Amino acid sequence: MSSLKIKHLISWKDWSDEEILDLLNFAIHVKNHRANYLGHMTGRTLAMLFQKTSTRTRVSFEVAMTEMGGNAIYLDWMSSNFQLSDIDLEAEYLSRNVSIIMARMRKHEDLLQLRSGSQVPVINGCCNMFHPCQSLADILTIALDNPKPLSQLKLTYIGVHNNVVNSLIGITAAIGMHLTLVTPIAEKVNIDEETVTRAQKKGTLSWETNLHQAIGDADYIYTDTWVDMEFFNDPNFAEKKKERMELMMPYQINESLLSKTKAKVMHDMPIHSGYEITREAVRNPRSIIFQQAENRLDAQKAVILQLLEV
Ligand code: CP
Repeated sequence: MSSLKIKHLISWKDWSDEEILDLLNFAIHVKNHRANYLGHMTGRTLAMLFQKTSTRTRVSFEVAMTEMGGNAIYLDWMSSNFQLSDIDLEAEYLSRNVSIIMARMRKHEDLLQLRSGSQVPVINGCCNMFHPCQSLADILTIALDNPKPLSQLKLTYIGVHNNVVNSLIGITAAIGMHLTLVTPIAEKVNIDEETVTRAQKKGTLSWETNLHQAIGDADYIYTDTWVDMEFFNDPNFAEKKKERMELMMPYQINESLLSKTKAKVMHDMPIHSGYEITREAVRNPRSIIFQQAENRLDAQKAVILQLLEV
């Protein structure tokens, strides 16, 4: 198979607005017709390669394959020979055994190298720059939660500019949903300028420094960890973590903040309760966090089916 013809999901940058909307509509269909896809992956295997920890991404991809009659193999980076060889060569070998690969890599460049060697579709299971599968589940959740057209809904992200934000910017631009960012920490190295430019051309992206202004007319407010998962318990990052916590604490989603908005509450999990969000806010009746996490399963199924064109 020529690698030029293979469709991958690395970031939304490689997908047209129409393709993204089609995928979202397909995910809605898959969610509403789960039984229709019970045997679609019979005889097929997904390889799941992880350089970092995961709960939702691993579980949802593995259950997706199981429910669709296929199989999933978990490959831990450190106990595989990916850690001591060229990534593209190991990927080519892997792709001669499986139908599709999902990889959670620390560095985007390493994911691109993996893609270059693969002869089957590669899905980004979250790298330092993008988390497209998460953002698909996020918009799927909003679409299922709210009957209004997505272009009439407002999403406000409150937190640190990270990989999830880049993917939210990309997908909201494609579907015409307005995204407001309240991101007191937004390091240039973490911002994907191409994605931002695409959203600015569509007029779907804005920044707000006044938190109360940003949540006033929001339909959904969304937060994520203030410290990337691999650094959260790293003693070398302790000082930076402390600085971040102090700077970000006024932006915590808590009951006081929720009293100032009618917006529903989103978080991609894992939760660091007491930091970016309180346990009370997670359990607030307006929280749709667990629906959002559950919808990873249907989003993953849609991505796998779409990439394999079955
Ligand atoms: N949201 C998310 O990707 O969860 P995991 O890190 O647990 O996979």
